[in-house]
Amino acid sequence: IANEKESMYLVSEFAAKYFHNTLLNTEEGKAIGLSYFKERGFTSETIQKFNLGYSPNIWDAFTKEALQKGYALEYLEKTGLTIVGEDKQFDRFKGRVMFPIQSMSGRILGFGGRILSQDKKAAKYLNSPESDIYHKSKVLYGIFQAKQAIAKQNNCYLVEGYTDVIQMHQSGIENVVASSGTALTPDQIRLINRLTKNITVLFDGDAAGMRASIRGIDLILEEGMNVKVCTFPEGEDPDSFAKKNSFEDVKNHLENSSMDFIQFKASLLMNDAKNDPIKKADLIRDMVVSISKIPDRIKREIYIQETSKTMEISEDVLFNTLAQISQKEI
Ligand code: CTP
Ligand code: MN
Ligand code: MN
Ligand code: MN
Ligand code: MN
Repeated sequence: IANEKESMYLVSEFAAKYFHNTLLNTEEGKAIGLSYFKERGFTSETIQKFNLGYSPNIWDAFTKEALQKGYALEYLEKTGLTIVGEDKQFDRFKGRVMFPIQSMSGRILGFGGRILSQDKKAAKYLNSPESDIYHKSKVLYGIFQAKQAIAKQNNCYLVEGYTDVIQMHQSGIENVVASSGTALTPDQIRLINRLTKNITVLFDGDAAGMRASIRGIDLILEEGMNVKVCTFPEGEDPDSFAKKNSFEDVKNHLENSSMDFIQFKASLLMNDAKNDPIKKADLIRDMVVSISKIPDRIKREIYIQETSKTMEISEDVLFNTLAQISQKEI
């Protein structure tokens, strides 16, 4: 099994090199892939740092090359790079720009491939399937490039997508990782916990991003970590925001608009439940549920006091609610 995994790592490493080389040194790669990345504002340095690539728009270009170099079909199939059919083998990532997904220590685990055309029928991103080396619930995109900055800044920005990580990194904010389209998992949070206790959630400025932020909060609190939320203007994600604004502006936005999770939840009330007592009650209960996830008793107490002040409701009621919720959990 150890040998098998090693063979899968090796074929993945070969693939990353092949896609990267195709992007930089072939006519098709340069005309289609490289110009796409340049249009998104990625510099050559960024393309190197994230080892970005391009997979040719030919049904078996990569597979053919890998087989010719002596990589076994078995591992090409096990990593999902090659799809083996009845009488032919073809590339999973045909005609896509490629984002290698690396482990904390830098090994290539899998890939995300983005389509270039506006073809609405095909999925925008295609990812490697689950395998012995790639468990999507246990990896965070960008962790290899971000780990030092996370430890140094003692904070980790959590975003949704590949390009959010890359664009923020390029604008000088390097402590960023992405959950990459999966709902945040405890394993992903524990990966960050090895580097810092502080997470700032930066999800897309749309309804889905908002829902994802809210879901993430309780999971992060349950791991005993501190969570802040920073929202983006409607229709923006960290990538588009960082592309439009200077480093100073992005930094100011992150500093000035990051809210503690309690403030964030209170701000939801300002937006849509101000004059609705039932919505307000639901939201306060929801805040107490979040507080109940915090393992540290002192912190729980402080957050109850804070909620009492901002929501203008007595601490007694909140403590009773907290006790009820904790009771149910046991
Ligand atoms: N994603 C995915 N499959 C899809 C759509 C999205 O795996 N069909 C994942 C990708 O990791 C993507 C992330 O979810 O980066 C966030 O999705 P979205 O916000 O739609 O994409 P962006 O990252 O903003 O991508 P882009 O800017 O290239 O459109
Ligand atoms: Mn290179
Ligand atoms: Mn989105
Ligand atoms: Mn997005
Ligand atoms: Mn985007």
